[in-house]
Amino acid sequence: MEAIENLMSRRSPAKLAEPAPSAEALSRAMAAAVRAPDHGKLKPWRFVIIESDARAAFGEVMARCLKRQQPDATEEMLTREREKAFRAPTIVVAVAKIQAQHPKIPEVEQLLAAGAATQNFWLALHAQGYGALWKTGAPAYDAQVKRELGLAETDQIVGFMYVGSIAQPAMDQKRPEPEHFIERWTRPAA
Ligand SMILES: Cc1cc2nc3c(=O)[nH]c(=O)nc-3n(C[C@H](O)[C@H](O)[C@H](O)COP(=O)(O)O)c2cc1C
Repeated sequence: MEAIENLMSRRSPAKLAEPAPSAEALSRAMAAAVRAPDHGKLKPWRFVIIESDARAAFGEVMARCLKRQQPDATEEMLTREREKAFRAPTIVVAVAKIQAQHPKIPEVEQLLAAGAATQNFWLALHAQGYGALWKTGAPAYDAQVKRELGLAETDQIVGFMYVGSIAQPAMDQKRPEPEHFIERWTRPAA
């Protein structure tokens, strides 16, 4: 696929399904991810792959998180939360491995590099015909979720990337006009 066409056609599908991206496709997407811009060559990204049966355990992690956040969550809500783990054959947790107080590279730049890697990952999957959903929500910021995923306290979850084959494409939504976001600067403000 043409690079620009790939960028312009990426969207979150309405529904994902089996088969998961092949090992080769996933590894190509990872290779694209680690080519992201990276100030100081810190490689501040990690990708935690959760697939097949491990998704049930991940669903439990999510349900426990919901229960912590909303102690009066009903059984129905908890079941719905568990089932989210099965909305794609593979979940890739994109993580920013933050070095706090790095002498040269601010934390925000490390987070941006991990975000760029995550977008590269998504675009590379898209170029190979697979779909992805980028999700965060409360679990991405929950210390216990991080612990249960084997992450360090200083790690930041950039996104839970649900990946698979596209069972139902997204409805085409109107995209913003780029000129609304562009300003020209000519001199310092008074
Ligand atoms: C950091 C980040 C976190 C996001 N978290 C969520 C989320 O938790 N739930 C959600 O529905 N969309 C979330 N989104 C937005 C979707 O992934 C998606 O990009 C958006 O709905 C626009 O749809 P599109 O991918 O078709 O452009 C997030 C996006 C980013 C960049």
